[in-house]
Amino acid sequence: MTYQASVKQVEKVEPVFPSYVKNKKLREWVAGIAALTQPETIYWCDGSQEEYDRLCAEMVKAGSMVKLNEAKRPNSYLALSDPSDVARVEDRTFICSVHKHDAGITNNWVTPAEMKATLQPLFEGSMRGRTMYVVPFSMGPLGSPISHIGVELSDSPYVAVNMRIMTRMGKAVLDSLGEEGEFVQCLHSVGAPLEPGQKDVPWPCNKEKYIVHFPEENAIWSYGSGYGGNALLGKKCFALRIASSMGRDEGWLAEHMLILGVESPEGEKTYVAAAFPSACGKTNFAMLIPPKAFNGWKVTTVGDDIAWIKPGPDGRLYAINPEAGFFGVAPGTSAKSNPNALATLNANCIFTNVALTPDGDVWWEDLTDTPPAELTDWRGQAWTPDCGRVAAHPNSRFTAPASQCPSIDPAWEDPKGVPISAFIFGGRRSTAVPLVVQATNWTHGVYLGATMGSETTAAAAGAQGQVRRDPMAMLPFCGYNMADYFDHWLEVGHTLFNPPRIFCVNWFRKDSNGKFMWPGFGDNMRILKWILDRTHGKTGGVESPLGWMPSYDDIYWEGLEGFSRERYNEMMSVERGAWIKELLSHEELFVQLYDRLPKEFVLQRELLLASLWRSPERWHLPA
Ligand code: GTP
Ligand code: SPV
Ligand code: MN
Repeated sequence: MTYQASVKQVEKVEPVFPSYVKNKKLREWVAGIAALTQPETIYWCDGSQEEYDRLCAEMVKAGSMVKLNEAKRPNSYLALSDPSDVARVEDRTFICSVHKHDAGITNNWVTPAEMKATLQPLFEGSMRGRTMYVVPFSMGPLGSPISHIGVELSDSPYVAVNMRIMTRMGKAVLDSLGEEGEFVQCLHSVGAPLEPGQKDVPWPCNKEKYIVHFPEENAIWSYGSGYGGNALLGKKCFALRIASSMGRDEGWLAEHMLILGVESPEGEKTYVAAAFPSACGKTNFAMLIPPKAFNGWKVTTVGDDIAWIKPGPDGRLYAINPEAGFFGVAPGTSAKSNPNALATLNANCIFTNVALTPDGDVWWEDLTDTPPAELTDWRGQAWTPDCGRVAAHPNSRFTAPASQCPSIDPAWEDPKGVPISAFIFGGRRSTAVPLVVQATNWTHGVYLGATMGSETTAAAAGAQGQVRRDPMAMLPFCGYNMADYFDHWLEVGHTLFNPPRIFCVNWFRKDSNGKFMWPGFGDNMRILKWILDRTHGKTGGVESPLGWMPSYDDIYWEGLEGFSRERYNEMMSVERGAWIKELLSHEELFVQLYDRLPKEFVLQRELLLASLWRSPERWHLPA
């Protein structure tokens, strides 16, 4: 126990290894990256509380974070990013497989050799004047057979402390890695070297950004951004893009899904997994509190963003949440919309790009009905309710330990995972898409998930509110050819005995006045209950042009006043014209994937078209 935590280099880029670092590949890789990026020091993260507190204190001293009021929000911090570095950058994200076809048309692609030739000079000396943090982490419970290890080398202390919340991070991971263990290489630089004497900025980053994946080498190179999924490489880069590619090879699924459990008053426990695109309600749904009328029903949270799902020996699918924390959207989170999330945020959290109150606490849009009279906004400027600007950035986020969530499921760290009975796919659609539909079988369900559309949100840089196809909410996260991904889904279903039922939901349909038709949030329990009842064969449904639907009488309405049958039927209606447009847009996706598209999809589309063709201009549930 004599190693020095913070090792000042004598020879600048010649790393000194703590005695517990036994893994040969890791030693070679760290030495190589240190020589390339030339950090001033190398720091090995041990994952301790003492280390976390110290790194945060150093950032506060350097002006990169503010410590929040200890009485109001103990052990919590606020970081404000550079205004240009606030979300994932999809147009700067690359999948660099050897063959273009293996990345597919939905990913940006460059050959690995060419990309490395581009990145090499950018990384050369990119950590000069900074500390390189070595961040060993496990996605999934440490030592579990379904977990995977990664090591992130980053010149951002913000990344190091966030990774401690989001993953199982520290020395124990290296012990478990041993001499020969495999790990995913995650290289990250903010791309802002400091010349001798140069003063640092609070949020260093670079205008030029590259988020690059080498799925055939299990390696990630991220340059220029310090924000979220661009920089916390265990999350989207590893647990979705690299892991989806591992899963294709090994027969499992890495999905952009929440996992929740429901316990009925009779004590029957059912787990479901749901894929909604970024900022479309996964965290809310994962932490749902049923309405009062659902006496004795309980919803528990396993995960809010990512699921690793594997067939078990009994022919069922088992899911784990590979993360240890929530990196959740702050705006809209309130005691009304998500009390469980709010309670999770009481202490030990990092907030990014929210507003600061005069008494050293945080605020964001809709946290309270009445905004505070004055704030410091996410850009560090004075803010008042009438100033005409938002106080928190729309993609401002909290980083919070999952263990603090009041609704956390007792099995959330079970290395076996939890058995999944149903999959739910949901987009954000103001028009056309009804509240809920059940697929008639696995193939139909995979088709519906794969052709899902959603309006874009602030979670990614670029235009917002535009409908795009977002297959299974994985458009920005699938690490290989999307057509092969569809094929993999079909294939996995066929290895199962009685695969999970598949449903599509849309909480976001609006009426002609632009108002949401469905109350959402806790009331989503009403739809979830029908989903469970269908899954357990306990209730009926109506055959619609799109699949099975609950009639008004199939839904439990107790406690929701004034939601009429007419209003419900309106929300469930299927307009032929709008759906034929949808099908044309499915075709646009299919044309792009033509050479590898599963045949089932072409046939399924024909069937859907045929059923729409024979249905009335506006199909309604029985009055
Ligand atoms: P990522 O973390 O980006 O992957 O997203 P997420 O899916 O976890 O997003 P989150 O749950 O934070 O989504 C937040 C947004 O969804 C906010 O705009 C909420 O107001 C909205 N939202 C969540 N649930 C509902 C709902 O039932 N109805 C409506 N209308 N909006 C909802
Ligand atoms: C998402 O955009 O889907 C997120 C946030 O979960 S980030 O990790 O920044 O990608
Ligand atoms: Mn997400």
